[in-house]
Amino acid sequence: MWMESLQDLFFFIDEEGVFYALDLGGTNFRVLRVELGGKDRGVVHQEFAEASIPPALMSGSSDALFDYIAEKLASFVNDEERIYEQPAGKERELGFTFSFPVMQNSINSGTLIRWTKGFSIDDAVGQDVVVEITKALKRKGVDMRVAALINDTIGTLAGGRHSDPDVSVAVILGTGSNAAYVERAQAIPKWHGPLPKSGEMAINMEWGNFRSSHLPLTEYDSAMDAESLNPGEQIFEKLISGMYLGEILRRVLLRLAEEACFFGDEIPAKLRSPFILRTPEMSAMHHDTSPDLKVVGDKLKSVLEISHTSVKKRRVVVELINIISSRGARLAAAGILGVLKKLGKDVSKEKTIIAMDGGLYEHYTEYRKCLESTVFDLLGDATGTSVVFEHYVDGSGIGAALIAASHSLYLDDKF
Ligand code: BGC
Repeated sequence: MWMESLQDLFFFIDEEGVFYALDLGGTNFRVLRVELGGKDRGVVHQEFAEASIPPALMSGSSDALFDYIAEKLASFVNDEERIYEQPAGKERELGFTFSFPVMQNSINSGTLIRWTKGFSIDDAVGQDVVVEITKALKRKGVDMRVAALINDTIGTLAGGRHSDPDVSVAVILGTGSNAAYVERAQAIPKWHGPLPKSGEMAINMEWGNFRSSHLPLTEYDSAMDAESLNPGEQIFEKLISGMYLGEILRRVLLRLAEEACFFGDEIPAKLRSPFILRTPEMSAMHHDTSPDLKVVGDKLKSVLEISHTSVKKRRVVVELINIISSRGARLAAAGILGVLKKLGKDVSKEKTIIAMDGGLYEHYTEYRKCLESTVFDLLGDATGTSVVFEHYVDGSGIGAALIAASHSLYLDDKF
């Protein structure tokens, strides 16, 4: 089941001023202050602070989570008061990037459909997350209005397109995964509202929740899904994204230990611990170029307490990593090809930029190389070099500030 949210975003104004962004999409969140310099100057300055969400808050109550975030936002604003003074009578305005499936009701309201990526806060489901954060900001004494609620894919698309109009697709590959693209409004049968001035709309696909009997699910995937916080949901995401690749590897290694005594007669106890093997460790092992695969040996020891592995065994581990990571990267590439085909960009000579972001894409080089080469293989020669991948750092935060600016209450001051 695909969930789409449609937003009329692309009426960027040449706004000047300071806007805020709150980017919540995984175990870390960021607050940003973005200074826009008007028509030709774009983003002239930005500052940010990052904090991690304590694991207990990921499955606690809605108030506890939003209070924690509002507190961090409060101290960010207090710190900056030394360098920046908000003009009197003007409320601070915030773009809220909330990267979970939301039923968007307006530019600044939306109800949470379900959590993903290890979050599980029952009393937040069905609530308007803008109302929740606004109440928390009030409780913490922060005077700030949420001008826009967006998803990270939409922020990356907006941020990317603001700097280059050839950006028409955005893909996040991080803890979770998702894609968004720009569509002609007339080509969207579900849209019954007035046509946007630009004639274009952004579609948030929520592709992580895609499932099909054609997906190559193994028994490891099915067992991981069944034991997850969200069984039956986010199946595509569970095959391709950073939260799950290391866990799939752990499950395969455990089976090898159980059925083939791969690590000796005893089954290493740590191997039984879900999510102990994280994708960054898997990536470090994948990129090990030392002749005796020292990094692989070190990681097996430090993470799983498995010592004295032979080089031969380490090679098997790297081969497994390669299989799991290339399967993920190729499936993600197939998703990207699907979007390009939908837009007719698979046969077009016009330049199409795919704005990419997320830690998996940024840090896992082998995954990224496999993803990009698969897209080019699938496209064949038809498009030549017209499809380009670009990494948009902080795209989702900046995009949120830009969209907040284009929905500012104070636009009428100038126009
Ligand atoms: C969420 C999406 C988000 C993606 C990338 C998924 O788990 O459902 O809304 O865009 O992760 O952060």
